[in-house]
Amino acid sequence: RAMAILTELEEKCGTPIGKLKQVGDAMTVEMHAGLASEGGSKLKMLISYVDNLPTGDEKGLFYALDLGGTNFRVLRVQLGGNDGRVVNQEFTEVSIPPHLMVGTSDALFDYIAAELAKFVATEGQGFHLSPGRQRELGFTFSFPVRQLTIASGTLIKWTKGFSIDDTVGQDVVAELTKAMERQGLDMRVAALVNDTIGTLAGGRYFNNDVIAAVILGTGTNAAYVERAHAIPKWHGLLPKSGEMVINMEWGNFRSSHLPVTEYDHALDVESLNPGEQIFEKIISGMYLGDIVRRVLCRMAEEAAFFGDTVPPKLRVPFILRSALDSLLKGMELEDLPICWVLFAVSQLIIMGYLGIASGMTPDMSAIHHDTTSDLRVVGNKLKDILGITNTSLKTRKVVVELCNIVATRGARLSAAGIFGILKKLGRDTVREGEKQRTVIAMDGGLFEHYTKFSECLESTLKELLGKEISESIVIEHSNDGSGIGAALLAASHSQYLDVES
Ligand code: BG6
Ligand code: GLC
Repeated sequence: RAMAILTELEEKCGTPIGKLKQVGDAMTVEMHAGLASEGGSKLKMLISYVDNLPTGDEKGLFYALDLGGTNFRVLRVQLGGNDGRVVNQEFTEVSIPPHLMVGTSDALFDYIAAELAKFVATEGQGFHLSPGRQRELGFTFSFPVRQLTIASGTLIKWTKGFSIDDTVGQDVVAELTKAMERQGLDMRVAALVNDTIGTLAGGRYFNNDVIAAVILGTGTNAAYVERAHAIPKWHGLLPKSGEMVINMEWGNFRSSHLPVTEYDHALDVESLNPGEQIFEKIISGMYLGDIVRRVLCRMAEEAAFFGDTVPPKLRVPFILRSALDSLLKGMELEDLPICWVLFAVSQLIIMGYLGIASGMTPDMSAIHHDTTSDLRVVGNKLKDILGITNTSLKTRKVVVELCNIVATRGARLSAAGIFGILKKLGRDTVREGEKQRTVIAMDGGLFEHYTKFSECLESTLKELLGKEISESIVIEHSNDGSGIGAALLAASHSQYLDVES
């Protein structure tokens, strides 16, 4: 019976090449619609106000603050100018306490500003701020923002594990600036960017052929360089470069061609943002592990997969969120089943100290990559995470195969999304007499740490593109490029540029 559940899942998660091409085509169609008018598509295709990417001439001391899904990073970089590139850089990484992800706007921004102030207070050698200059910051804020200028924008909605009502509709730069003032920190946000935009800018700095960036981490998203003429909804001045970087917010893409299952429906309904971010919920690190948990739960319930009783931890949907939200809404601990509380607390501790907010996905990755002959790692994970002991080799094999099905679907759909972007740009075929190189900068925990996922993504993209063109399309890991990218954009939007030139 467990095998029947697995086989059924495999069928429903199927991503034959024909289906992937349909998904890619649907992505291209939605890109056009999102560029045509505001609200024209589920794909927001947000205008970033970045119409010039880094050149290498950026110069001076700049800071970046990178608020992603799990951690935030603060970076200080000394830029050399005249193609001198990065001379020096230092950074610190702090995990975001989970209760701040669902608290108040002031509490979140105060925490960030306090960490930033601490970092600024420790300037090392090799970093020089010209006298009389205010410190300038690139702010990478990895959520959908309606940009008003390069350095301001209002939050459209939270995604991933965040849900703070009073930030929605607010200018996040104003929120951060107020918090910095409360900390007595004199700093100006010179550029507000999404992590995809930061990664694109950072990628371009080191490689001129970078035209798009994709994040595969807690959430997923893509950005690319568009011709300004091809953006009908843009009514501003035509940029000199003729280009504009677009933040697609592809996590919110959906299409009837997407292979979704009952597990995905249930996950969506019980999530913080039902009905939204459907592509993200099939692909990204925050959700993959929970899909696996849901299938295991059904196997336990209907096929006694783990013995006569269902392991209690398997039953709790979004356990962390449920427990947290209830606590915040003033429910007493006694109202919650004790297993919820214990598990939530243990998750909070793990997340707080290790900075893992992607739920079970890192464990899923460990399970999927287990190469021991008796699948020891799988056995240990089932024991440590879910309290399931004495599993047979056969059981462990089924668990590995389950991870494989769920990860493969996510990786292949990500490749289909990239294929859609390349089609939109006309870079999916070899043009006559032209050997144009196309580089896509990638970042995020899922891409970086889940090797089977990234390998599958790359091979699927090759499969979609065909041999000839795939040789000139390169996926490059842009390690933490978004931090440097944001600092570079702060440099090119510095208030002192005119003074210098
Ligand atoms: C980092 C980037 O490497 O990846 C961030 O610097 C980005 O800007 C992050 O938000 C996404 O990955 P994860 O796994 O932290 O969600
Ligand atoms: C979510 C956010 C998006 C971000 C992505 C990756 O999809 O909405 O802005 O780029 O996660 O971090």
